[in-house]
Amino acid sequence: SWTTSSIVDEQVEAIRTQVGSKRALCGLSGGVDSAVAAALVQKAIGSQLTCVYVDHGLMRQGETEQVEKDFVAATGVQLKVVDAADRFLGALAGVSDPEQKRKIIGREFIRVFEQAQAELVAEAGGQSGAAGEYAFLVQGTLYPDVVESGGGTGTANIKSHHNVGGLPEDLEFELVEPLRKLFKDEVRMVGQELGLPEEIVQRQPFPGPGLGIRIVGEVTRERLDVLRAADAIAREELTAAGLDREIWQCPVVLLADVRSVGVQGDGRTYGHPVVLRPVSSEDAMTADWSRLPYDVLGRISTRITNEVRDVNRVVLDVTSKPPGTIEWE
Ligand code: XMP
Repeated sequence: SWTTSSIVDEQVEAIRTQVGSKRALCGLSGGVDSAVAAALVQKAIGSQLTCVYVDHGLMRQGETEQVEKDFVAATGVQLKVVDAADRFLGALAGVSDPEQKRKIIGREFIRVFEQAQAELVAEAGGQSGAAGEYAFLVQGTLYPDVVESGGGTGTANIKSHHNVGGLPEDLEFELVEPLRKLFKDEVRMVGQELGLPEEIVQRQPFPGPGLGIRIVGEVTRERLDVLRAADAIAREELTAAGLDREIWQCPVVLLADVRSVGVQGDGRTYGHPVVLRPVSSEDAMTADWSRLPYDVLGRISTRITNEVRDVNRVVLDVTSKPPGTIEWE
């Protein structure tokens, strides 16, 4: 549409002015926002952009492979993949507090980008100055992220989105955030305008801190495996039921510190509950719980409790936002 193409033109111009002849890094998460931000910046500065995908070990099943294949195929962008699972999980060890988790994840992302920057500069022959600098960091920050994180004032209104309130204070990158004034539906239109495929543009939101903020309690490898398996089943069944476009997203949350008694197979179990949190929303600022068909909920519940050891109960979150936020942390 006219307005969408004028947003693109305006942002391309602004990015060129800001970055000039220098180089930029863009953190790709696999989500819509970072994909659209990357495509916009690529349109503006072409090969001066390198995307960095950080596998923090908090991704869902299949996510890393999808970024490696789909996004590169769609855009031809230069991609650097960093396996940083040990680093993130090490930094998160022993931490249960949600804001602390978010700040740690935000900080570690930046530290990984700094390391990637140093490597890229070295690969470019160690030259510093205009051509080799990678002084800019592109982020797919949206308007709601800014508002809910307190507008970057350092105090979160609601929660510190990892790429706003969760950034470290000694940040050396200059940020490029071409989506900072946009809502999700506008971002999707911009993505479409830029020619990104449906699978990317229509993806449901997934938070940058990933499954790390969907484990209530400490994040461990074992817990991540349990949650990843339950989440994959829920997504598979929702897709099979044709509900992907109807719901905004459906976080699956592992209540890792809660146990309840169950009976599975031939005996007593003492396992963990997972929560299904399907919501419908326009912009994530407010949301309503989705009235999913009972038979779909039933299938998800049966499969998760049959197939995922350690989960013996599936519960449904029927809270709107407000008062509940979409994610549990
Ligand atoms: P809440 O939980 O605040 O979530 O109602 C609103 C929307 O934002 C996503 N979300 C995040 N996305 N970094 C992100 O990139 C974050 O730190 C973050 N926290 C929440 C959430 O999935 C929902 O779509």
